[in-house]
Amino acid sequence: MPANKDDGGWKKFLWNSEKGELLGRTGGSWLKIILFYVIFYGCLAAIFIGTIQAMLLTLSNYKPTWQDRVAPPGLSHTPKSEKAEVTFNLNDVETYLPYAKAMRDFLSNYDEDKQKDQMKYEDCGDDPADYKNRGDLESDVGVRKACRFNRRLLGPCSGIEDREFGYKEGKPCLIVKLNRIVNFRPKPPSSNESIPEDAQPKVQPNLIPLYCTNKKEEDAGKIGEIKYYGIGGGFPLQYYPYYGKLLHDHYLQPLVALQFTNLTMNTELRIECKVFGDNIGYSEKDRYQGRFDIKIQINDL
Ligand SMILES: *[C@@H]1O[C@H](CO)[C@@H](O)[C@H](O)[C@H]1NC(C)=O
Ligand SMILES: *[C@@H]1O[C@H](CO)[C@@H](O)[C@H](O)[C@H]1NC(C)=O
Repeated sequence: MPANKDDGGWKKFLWNSEKGELLGRTGGSWLKIILFYVIFYGCLAAIFIGTIQAMLLTLSNYKPTWQDRVAPPGLSHTPKSEKAEVTFNLNDVETYLPYAKAMRDFLSNYDEDKQKDQMKYEDCGDDPADYKNRGDLESDVGVRKACRFNRRLLGPCSGIEDREFGYKEGKPCLIVKLNRIVNFRPKPPSSNESIPEDAQPKVQPNLIPLYCTNKKEEDAGKIGEIKYYGIGGGFPLQYYPYYGKLLHDHYLQPLVALQFTNLTMNTELRIECKVFGDNIGYSEKDRYQGRFDIKIQINDL
């Protein structure tokens, strides 16, 4: 029968015992084909793994990757609202309570009892000093110590005596910090030329000066005195560099507190704060790079 004949042909194709062929090929031929694919894919895999390895080698465990911020640093403040404004009424506690609460929450990270661990913290002095080198990022020293930052340095803005941070008296405080950047050493200004004249007296060794003033010409004379609290009223170098989350999880940024002691009431005022340093720049696109401005209005009517 034809069907049987076909079956026989198929079986012979699958396994031809006379010629020793499997699926129409000899064992040697099959071996060559298999060998070819093994080598081909083996090489592909090797190239792939090699590429990944090379990429991993160029990445460091400690240096910032694409997800961290990179220099130049942002300048940020607390309290911070979406519209970058602080507006409140002296006669209405509810209007400034959220600001005071935001400051209390923020400063709770700086509580003295959180800085007690001798393995993690050390005293670095209350005066500006040089960078504190704690070894290379890649060395095997492991977790690095961080400088303590005592809240008391912020004086009336520390929240220790005055839980309302001056808001009740119409002398609001603002806390300012430079955002952390792994392995970044901010450089103080090397000359006074690029700095506004009023900010020049703030220049001193081992300090990144912070200076705030009216943003708009027409607000000149309405801002009153701004007091600066913290170490040297700026960002002292002994707190740098920061070694990253892995080695410096407990790191505390140095803080500067501003207190506006004589703001003109019932007037919208725009205040700009800037830090100055040789490797600190500003950007038209990023409103917080090395600077920020904030609208403040205190009403007492
Ligand atoms: C900048 O000026 C201030 C005061 O005008 C002075 O104390 C400081 O030494 C000057 N700094 C530099 C780097 O010239
Ligand atoms: C506060 O500012 C006003 C002008 O806006 C001024 O007349 C007054 O002397 C200032 N007070 C203090 C203590 O500086």
